[in-house]
Amino acid sequence: MQIDQDTRVFGLIGYPLDHSLSPFMHNLAFQAAGVNAVYLPFPVKPGRVSSAVEGARALGIRGFNVTIPHKETIIPYLDGISPEAEACGSVNTVLFEGDRAIGYNTDGIGFMDSLEQEGVEVQGVAIILGAGGAARAIGYQLSLRGAITVFLNRTPERAEKLARDTARITGRESWGMSWESGRVLDFVRDAALLINTTPVGMYPDIDRQPPFDLKSLKPNSVVADIIYNPPKTRLLREAEALGLKTVNGLGMFVNQGVRSWEMFTGREAPRKLMEDKLRGLLLENET
Ligand code: ATR
Repeated sequence: MQIDQDTRVFGLIGYPLDHSLSPFMHNLAFQAAGVNAVYLPFPVKPGRVSSAVEGARALGIRGFNVTIPHKETIIPYLDGISPEAEACGSVNTVLFEGDRAIGYNTDGIGFMDSLEQEGVEVQGVAIILGAGGAARAIGYQLSLRGAITVFLNRTPERAEKLARDTARITGRESWGMSWESGRVLDFVRDAALLINTTPVGMYPDIDRQPPFDLKSLKPNSVVADIIYNPPKTRLLREAEALGLKTVNGLGMFVNQGVRSWEMFTGREAPRKLMEDKLRGLLLENET
């Protein structure tokens, strides 16, 4: 790779960044597509996000991704945000348009891309496990497309608030409750889709699984997980064993990256290559 005066600089801000796969994914796509650009990890400590935005602007960095813990706290320091970012209250992509830093959110739409690639139609009730940032982004997109969203969470108050916010923004039916609530079964009967957005089952706790009885789902329901390490969580393995269709989190991770990469470059991303190489890397790390 040749770095010269025309090389455009992109990156990722977050803290800590030790295990992020984004630099690997974005750089391999730059190389494959012959784009003269680099993507660097920028570990930005909590409290330093406004300096990071100003620093990036001053240095002529063209854009960057944003991860934990800055996705929400960055918003006041940007010059504008997209409707998706506004609805989710979080930003995962910043693009400098001239001198203006504009925030976007590609998480929810990245998940929708995965569903589409797997031929899954959005309809009926969508059960979302968790009520954090990822649940908000995904729930918003599903609700926009007409699904009745039901958020089940360890902390019921968060799920109730998220349901109220979702219904207010999209005008669609949305519910939130404890995942131990007896009312869950009323919704599960009509569920077409179940999505885990909690970290339960993520490496290294790969033997854990959210407390949800998959047997209560209809046989043609789809089970998705946004965890991508491991690519096939225990929840997905159990769903497969029950004959349910599954969608793994690697697709969502790649697709949110693809959407960002295409905004950064204005070109079509080599999506399949990005996904194949990432899967290879994850499987290599497992052994
Ligand atoms: P993200 O932005 O990735 O969605 P988050 O905002 O921290 O992350 O949200 C994480 C979600 O996973 C929350 O719904 C959280 O439940 P609480 O609201 O009760 O905290 C859920 N979660 C995290 N760890 C969990 C665990 N061990 N068991 C059950 N739920 C968990």
